[in-house]
Amino acid sequence: MDLPFGVNFIGIGAAAPPTSLSNHDLTALVETSDEWIRTRTGIENRRIATPDLTLTDLATTAAQAALTQADIDPASLDLVILATSTPDDLFGSASVIQARIGAAHAVAFDLTAACSGFIFGLVTASQYLQTGTYKRALVIGADILSRWVDWQDRRTCILFGDGAGAMIIEAAPTLENALLGFELRSDGRLNHHLTLAYQPKPQALAHTQIGQGTYHPIVMNGQEVYRFAVTQVPEVITKTLHRANLTAADIDWLVLHQANQRILDSVAQRLEIPKEKVISNLANYGNTSAASIPLALAESIEKGKIKPGHVIATAGFGAGLTWGAAIFRWGSDFTI
Ligand code: COA
Repeated sequence: MDLPFGVNFIGIGAAAPPTSLSNHDLTALVETSDEWIRTRTGIENRRIATPDLTLTDLATTAAQAALTQADIDPASLDLVILATSTPDDLFGSASVIQARIGAAHAVAFDLTAACSGFIFGLVTASQYLQTGTYKRALVIGADILSRWVDWQDRRTCILFGDGAGAMIIEAAPTLENALLGFELRSDGRLNHHLTLAYQPKPQALAHTQIGQGTYHPIVMNGQEVYRFAVTQVPEVITKTLHRANLTAADIDWLVLHQANQRILDSVAQRLEIPKEKVISNLANYGNTSAASIPLALAESIEKGKIKPGHVIATAGFGAGLTWGAAIFRWGSDFTI
């Protein structure tokens, strides 16, 4: 469908807690080794939020960095989307961030799609801009999964870390549209492979019962999630390339959800994208869920690897199960 507007991606920012937890630190908690974790996942360190640091704090820092880079007034934002599975408040945390950054005219809401959340948020925001409904949007991906990991479970606790990343997207003339293609998917039949599920505890209340409990820590079937990622991610990127009238050779950078180095390598290999074009920072952060893609983008842009005009293929995948890809051109007429 032809939409009246295009979009440009004009600012990015990221934040991570200062506290690190190394593979060596984990050997004091569970039976594992630095060597096992590094060879199976590529992860060496992860950042962990201490109790005084909130999801809103991390997300606000990332959002402010993105606003500074884009050099725009927060009051000019029309939309704030917070992709997270770990809000400070189950009613939503986006509006608190909206208030803290001074986006007085924006509407703000949370979006939950686990590790695919940033891609789902980017596409959702772009739709509002491309239809002409709004002009400027802020999309944040942020998660503090350390609060929901079972630190006695060596199959999962080695994987995750905390962080936030944010991007500013602006409406542009259709001819300058930088969102070249996208595809989003979900399959709830596979939900049980990766969950952070509510566990009700039945309690008597008047003439009935209620289920007041809490969330059970993350449960994951690692092998099934691995298999899912290495088959579905190349497929969805190939479809997205096709939609964008591009081939893998047109891609300057592959920026996948930073789950596991073996997944990154396998997807790149299947797409015949050379290793030099694959962005990876998971050694230092682990899997930061909805934050991982904007965090990796922000670092690579800051280092000058990704430059304005470069074509980036991104893909998120994770719980739901959900997955999706977006191919876009970074930057507009500003200098980084
Ligand atoms: N340290 C040491 N040994 C470990 C371990 C750890 N941290 N975790 C598991 N093991 C053991 C298992 O108990 C098992 O031992 P056994 O053979 O005696 O039973 C052995 O290692 C192999 O376990 P397995 O689960 O088959 O390992 P794997 O090769 O599949 O690697 C993952 C495990 C989690 C690294 C891998 O499955 C993976 O990366 N999956 C994708 C997960 C993911 O990215 N999730 C997030 C998506 S958003």
